[in-house]
Amino acid sequence: METKERVLTMLYAQKGQSVSGEEIAASLGISRNSVWKTVNQLRKEGYEISSKTNDGYTLLGECELFNEYSIAKYARGKYQIELYDVLPSTNDTAKEYASKGAGEGTVIVARAQTKGKGRMGRKFFSESENGLYFSLILRPKISLDKCSFLTVMTAVSVLEAIKETCGRECQIKWVNDIYINDRKVCGILTEASLNMENASTDYAVIGIGINVSIDKDGFNDEIKDIAGAIFDTTDIKNEYKSKLLAKILDNIFLYYESFQVESFIEKYRKSSNLIGENVDVLRGNETIEGKVLDIDNEARLVIEDKAGKIHRFFSGEARVKRK
Ligand code: BTN
Repeated sequence: METKERVLTMLYAQKGQSVSGEEIAASLGISRNSVWKTVNQLRKEGYEISSKTNDGYTLLGECELFNEYSIAKYARGKYQIELYDVLPSTNDTAKEYASKGAGEGTVIVARAQTKGKGRMGRKFFSESENGLYFSLILRPKISLDKCSFLTVMTAVSVLEAIKETCGRECQIKWVNDIYINDRKVCGILTEASLNMENASTDYAVIGIGINVSIDKDGFNDEIKDIAGAIFDTTDIKNEYKSKLLAKILDNIFLYYESFQVESFIEKYRKSSNLIGENVDVLRGNETIEGKVLDIDNEARLVIEDKAGKIHRFFSGEARVKRK
């Protein structure tokens, strides 16, 4: 974090109350003169900060930040948030943390990623601060066959959080993409480390990437025909990013603590944008063409092919065939 942001963070943590220049200087290891200069710089950027001799600095008015404090302010649960400016991939960093023993509820967040990973070895565009990119570490005590439900539970949690915090209605494209108006706004990548000795999961890392608003240069050529954002503007929506992240974590833990599949599978099914569509399902080198009849209670996509044969897919990629 640069000095400006560290000063702002201190003022933000005690918004409306005064914080002495001396306290800020001591805590950040800088001179009082640097504090004063930094406060003036922040004022020029539009932050309303009052100051009185011998009474320190007070942050007034609204201020949008995206950091550990702003996230904690909106979250009901307590999470260990590790925020980075830039990482190659929050999933990779989360796996490193998890393998060194980081506990459940540790969340690795990056303002931007240079090597964001998508499913099936694809790249996930996340170089812009307009998006929200994070990975949650869980240590599930559920049986291995239930692990695929972690992604299902997450998709429902994201969908509900977007509705609750941003007022936008979403659909889920099986398996785990979130769409608004036929545009993908969020992808989820779950990775797990298995313990073969007792057929259990050592840890799971759930990576979530959301396009909150649109980068000023737009989406790149590779994704411009499918990608969208929650907000159709180019400003960086820090307040929404904090609220959304907090709400997603709270929603996930609500489902995760009881882990009753019935509590989310019906919502998942109802939010599907594939039921009734004609699709190609790609799995490995195989492509099956048919009509989507349902998503069953195991979260499998149920397809009827032209010959009337029923297929059930646990995983794969479905492409809607345009009429
Ligand atoms: C997909 O759409 O195929 C899944 C995309 C998942 C992207 C998120 S962004 C945060 C986390 N870190 C990564 O490298 N990937 C996930």
